[in-house]
Amino acid sequence: MPDKTLLYGPEAIAARVDALAAAIRADYEGVLKPGEQILAIGVLNGAFVFMADLLRAVGDLPVEVDFIRLSSYQDRDTSMAEVVMLKNLEKEIQGRHVLVVEDIADAGLTLFWLIEHLQKRNPASLKIAVAVDKQGRRQTHVPLDYVGFTLDDGFLVGYGLDYADKYRTLPGIYEVDTKSVVTE
Ligand code: IMP
Ligand code: MG
Repeated sequence: MPDKTLLYGPEAIAARVDALAAAIRADYEGVLKPGEQILAIGVLNGAFVFMADLLRAVGDLPVEVDFIRLSSYQDRDTSMAEVVMLKNLEKEIQGRHVLVVEDIADAGLTLFWLIEHLQKRNPASLKIAVAVDKQGRRQTHVPLDYVGFTLDDGFLVGYGLDYADKYRTLPGIYEVDTKSVVTE
């Protein structure tokens, strides 16, 4: 296990999730027509924990779910950021009230790509919820509507966030000293 420091424990997270859910309920009240449901889109893999908590906290607001899996990397030759879709959505986006649920906004490239991908399909509305807004390395503006926690930098694990596919199931959010991992 690398050295890690607890930033936000389960109780702090639950309080933020409840506050975001209350804001979501207030925003969508009166927006949905009879029979309409919010389409919540989870970005795999990291969003699965936050999404489960957030959507259960919004109570009786009608919500259906879909998932997309994206991977972002820096191209070594061009040093351009590339986003690759590993799993596509299954539902129609056109005319839907879409709520994207993502674990973290870092450089912002993944969300930027996803927003463009979704806007092309003409949703009725598009809002973004992130558990963590890590602002220090942002390369592009992304409009975030619901933010759990804001911080500058640091590599985080837990609550869905991984380091080399580990630690996603930790109930709190921790900052890891990635240098200490080498000695594992
Ligand atoms: P972005 O395109 O740089 O905003 O990348 C966002 C993606 O990188 C997120 O969906 C995460 O999967 C991953 N990521 C960014 N920062 C962290 C972190 O601190 N811990 C774990 N994953 C992270
Ligand atoms: Mg992710």
